[in-house]
Amino acid sequence: MALLRLLPLFLSLFVSLSVAEIRFSEIRSDSRPIIPFDKFGFTHAGRLELNVSNIDLLNRKPELDLSKVGFFLCTNDAWLHVLQQLEEGDLSCALQSDLVKLVLTFKSLNGKKSFNKFYQENDADQYTLVFANCLSQVKVSMTIRSAMYNLDGKTKRPDYLSAGKTVLPRVYFLLSLVYFGLAGLWIYVLYKKRLTVFRIHFFMLAVVILKALNLLCEAEDKSYIKRTGSAHGWDVLFYIFSFLKGITLFTLIVLIGTGWSFLKPYLQDKEKKVLMIVIPLQVVANIAQVVIDETGPFGQDWITWKQVFLLVDVVCCCAVLFPIVWSIKNLREAARTDGKAAVNLMKLTLFRQYYIVVICYIYFTRVVVYALETITSYKYLWTSEVAEELATLAFYLFTGYKFKPEAHNPYFVIDDEEEEAAAEQLKLEDEFEL
Ligand SMILES: *[C@@H]1O[C@H](CO)[C@@H](O)[C@H](O)[C@H]1NC(C)=O
Repeated sequence: MALLRLLPLFLSLFVSLSVAEIRFSEIRSDSRPIIPFDKFGFTHAGRLELNVSNIDLLNRKPELDLSKVGFFLCTNDAWLHVLQQLEEGDLSCALQSDLVKLVLTFKSLNGKKSFNKFYQENDADQYTLVFANCLSQVKVSMTIRSAMYNLDGKTKRPDYLSAGKTVLPRVYFLLSLVYFGLAGLWIYVLYKKRLTVFRIHFFMLAVVILKALNLLCEAEDKSYIKRTGSAHGWDVLFYIFSFLKGITLFTLIVLIGTGWSFLKPYLQDKEKKVLMIVIPLQVVANIAQVVIDETGPFGQDWITWKQVFLLVDVVCCCAVLFPIVWSIKNLREAARTDGKAAVNLMKLTLFRQYYIVVICYIYFTRVVVYALETITSYKYLWTSEVAEELATLAFYLFTGYKFKPEAHNPYFVIDDEEEEAAAEQLKLEDEFEL
């Protein structure tokens, strides 16, 4: 009950941050020459609505040329050329380049404090909305509402998702169904093998259900944004489930890595320490993620949060590997001393496989997906999301399959022949290591 009463407070905190694809931004006494806003993939029927109010130019003098302050749209390629032009001194202000699509300069305001601009973009490409202020002594304050969308080919309704992302709501929804199916399957397995179920198997169930809920909320979130330009609170649920999913997944990897409840009922001190590092870091990572998503690149702290997120993520990924390495080491020592070489060798193989799979999973979802995102055209941005989700699905499937409850525990039913073969193999490995 206490939790229920706290929930609205928690939600209100998040809702105030959520602005989604129709974005509201405040700029206060800012003298940055270039302020990038959102990036958006336009189709041939792209639209931009820009509403700017409370404009205030500090240190403004009548003789200053206000055509050097304003908004424009620019593709990444064009921006590189503009930078080159600026470097070579061909022009003094990005707004004067004919490579950018000028939306509005402040000269046309004639001293007004606000304006509404409707801009049509019919060349399909990915553009960034940029504010440029080439008057170095002038500081700008203003309140901005920007909405970018594409008109749907048939219905002519606005679609607020960028061109390469409009299929994502459907993708997330299908994936959430897959995970709900997996959760059902897992419940069935737990019921069937209820005599050999460990506590960790219920934890695994929780992880799968949270993942399914997370995807469902993401699907709702994105489909609301697609239709209306804002998330209608679904982003809050999405962040909550992301947070729970992140924490439980990392905890699960650590727990499985330590062999908790499979090999031993307790955690060693150093293993607890890993958890005490990973869980708070996940909290930080999630906060960073919310800030990154909700503020967009115009914020001055955006880069900092991005770096914080990256750093925390790398630390978490490295930290979860330690328990697996310790387990492998312990198992190898045990195999040498307690005579049950075959049993320990099987466990050892399992843990080695798990180690490799965790590394592949981390590598794929952090590095390969990022590379995919960078090289794919904006029209196919969904492919990298799909690749990441499929890798995650494969990881869940592997973990579930390898650590499922077993009716007869294969670790303990081993005949003498296998025992000898295993002892032999261990000896070989030792020599190899030497
Ligand atoms: C924003 O600008 C657009 C385009 O001029 C206009 O249609 C819309 O009503 C404006 N919205 C607000 C909230 O002022």
